[in-house]
Amino acid sequence: MSLLITGGTGYIGSHTVVELLNTNQDVVIVDNLANSSTKSLDRVEQITGKKATFIKADICDKEAMREVFKAHDISGVIHFAGLKAVGESTQIPLSYYHNNVSGTVVLLDVMNEFNVKNLVFSSSATVYGENNTSPLVETMPTSATNPYGQTKLMIEHILFDLAKSDPDWSIISLRYFNPIGAHASGLIGENPNGIPNNLLPFVSQVAVGRLKQLQVFGDDYDTIDGTGVRDYIHVVDLALAHLKAVAALPKLPGCTAINVGTGNGTSVLQIVNKFKEISKVDIPYQISPRRPGDIATVFAEAKLAHEVLGWQAERDLTDMISDTWRWQSENPNGFE
Ligand code: NAD
Ligand code: UFG
Repeated sequence: MSLLITGGTGYIGSHTVVELLNTNQDVVIVDNLANSSTKSLDRVEQITGKKATFIKADICDKEAMREVFKAHDISGVIHFAGLKAVGESTQIPLSYYHNNVSGTVVLLDVMNEFNVKNLVFSSSATVYGENNTSPLVETMPTSATNPYGQTKLMIEHILFDLAKSDPDWSIISLRYFNPIGAHASGLIGENPNGIPNNLLPFVSQVAVGRLKQLQVFGDDYDTIDGTGVRDYIHVVDLALAHLKAVAALPKLPGCTAINVGTGNGTSVLQIVNKFKEISKVDIPYQISPRRPGDIATVFAEAKLAHEVLGWQAERDLTDMISDTWRWQSENPNGFE
């Protein structure tokens, strides 16, 4: 039996595939390479000494998805495939709704057809919207402030409705906080296209000289030093949460949303200072106005993952930044 990993050549997907191969799980990856390259597959093989089966296909293509399920004995799916840039989603919302929401419906339809009813889904802390106060708890009301967030929220609603309609489904929706870091080998890591939107890829590209300086979006928030606070989570810890979730599915019918964070908040300036300390490189920065849509503080209540999955984050901020720096300094241009 194989696990199907959609989006498995991407940032979080590739780290999860490494951990799955390390436990001798057979893996089939479906990715359309919209935001990744097959170079990550070579690196995954270099790390693990094992190969995943790769199929270049779009999850929106129902016939192609049927072929995948026909050709492979799939026991469950980890569904990473999706577009994820918040800003871009406000400019091309239809692409986001089509790719993320319609694509997921196609995937679920085909899973239904082949009676594969085990799913782990990549959700996001963005579903908590802007009206809840951290620590964010799974029972809090959800909302969305941009099309990307809407797609995650809509998919969660679809998953809850589906699980309610048919008791054979077991679904875990993992709500990721802020994934950063890279595999300790330095062989795989985050490889964004163009100018990065997220803090860590931006800081690391400043550190290797690809970008001139960081803009710190606001220093007048009600936080420890005025800059935004987030719950950064090491991508390998996040990958391991997926393995725990897959293992928990058989004893967890229905649809369950679970936070994946550390429960700790770190400010932008704390990140910059830690990065300087570890890389021994200066990170020039300038304080600029707040980024529209940002909130001051976001961190998880991380208890449920521990209770239900037996998972908790094990890597600290030093690990996260050292691994980010190793990846970026050894691969200044990513996989290129
Ligand atoms: P990523 O872009 O590196 O990986 C996503 C992968 O999905 C890419 O390889 C892309 O080519 C593929 N893909 C996109 N649309 C596809 C389609 N229609 N058919 C087949 N493949 C398709 O992103 P990531 O950071 O690894 O994120 C993985 C998932 O986690 C996404 O669903 C994302 O929304 C979610 N998530 C990410 C973060 C984060 O900060 N990275 C936070 C919360 C949630
Ligand atoms: N920041 C800067 N300068 C930058 C980039 C970010 O100061 O160049 C600050 C932001 O203002 C924020 C913090 O760094 O305070 C983190 O910003 P990111 O963009 O890295 O992460 P966000 O928390 O804003 O966004 C992440 C995911 C989104 C998701 C959101 C909510 O990237 O996909 O969490 O869960 F929607």
